[in-house]
Amino acid sequence: MIIACPHCKKRYSISDEGIEKIRDRAVIPCSACKGDMRSSVPAGQPAGTTPSSPAAEKSSDGDSLKSRLAQALKDLPPMPQAFDQARGLMADVHAKPADVAHVLETHPAVSARVLRLVGMALYGDAESVSSIQQAVTALDMKTLNEFIILACASGLLSRELNGYGLKAWDLWRHSLGVAYCVRELASRMNPDMAEEAFLAGLFHDCGKLILDSCVEDRIESILPLVYEEKQSFQIIERQVLGFEHPQVAADVCVKWRLPKSLIVAIALHHTPSRFEHNPLACILHAADAIALMSGIGVGIEGSLYSIDEKAMEFLALDDDKIGMLMVDAAGFVKRTMECF
Ligand SMILES: [Fe+2]
Ligand SMILES: [Fe+2]
Repeated sequence: MIIACPHCKKRYSISDEGIEKIRDRAVIPCSACKGDMRSSVPAGQPAGTTPSSPAAEKSSDGDSLKSRLAQALKDLPPMPQAFDQARGLMADVHAKPADVAHVLETHPAVSARVLRLVGMALYGDAESVSSIQQAVTALDMKTLNEFIILACASGLLSRELNGYGLKAWDLWRHSLGVAYCVRELASRMNPDMAEEAFLAGLFHDCGKLILDSCVEDRIESILPLVYEEKQSFQIIERQVLGFEHPQVAADVCVKWRLPKSLIVAIALHHTPSRFEHNPLACILHAADAIALMSGIGVGIEGSLYSIDEKAMEFLALDDDKIGMLMVDAAGFVKRTMECF
């Protein structure tokens, strides 16, 4: 049996003999942080059995879980206005650099991040560009709008997710790595798909923002499935919560007004062959796997990624291509993270 400290997340593998010793104790001290861990082995329960079955847990609190997820969705911060404005300018053939400058001037928090990204792109130094005018003169509009999108998304995707074992900025790092890989793969297949693919990569795991506290509350039921039964994390989510993060991500994307085509690909990013063939979902799936193989923002899900062979066959990726993408994605994440 495996238990985890709810404070520092240190995991302990407990033998049957050890379970007998802790059976009558309500709390056990964590040797790493000295915090209290709740014993989940009730008196009378035989060693080697889980404290309660996931199915029983799911049926007993299914309704409250649904209302809790609805509340979490409600509490999620809205997409910053600058994001919609940047996307609007990207789609407008008549947009001028002055329009981008206007967006930056009206959103100081966003523009501070954008200036750091511009400095890094131009001179390899996040501190080197300090004026909006300098930024809009030196860089093309497409890149500037993409930087506005990155600055807005980072504020939504950077928080710590204890249930998924992700520290602050881990989800953001992973999202950046996936966004880089998915754009590279998409531009080789259909350059028109590249920008939408980048957005899909950035937001593909946003469902974890909603499910995290529920995963954390049930971590004692989840860890044995992860470390002993080694099931894919999506199956574990379905068994224990009755929801999967790609499915919940679709609700978040609707709230953030992301395009419908992107929402479908995100909802299928772990199972791209489940319904009819969706090229963006296949690319997103491969990009997600490549980012995890590179160790970019890997949490509890990392070692349990179940690869969809049909999607990988469709993309015909060989080891050399995958290796190059892993290296390039790691470089992109490292450079970008210096601006955050
Ligand atoms: Fe995912
Ligand atoms: Fe992911």
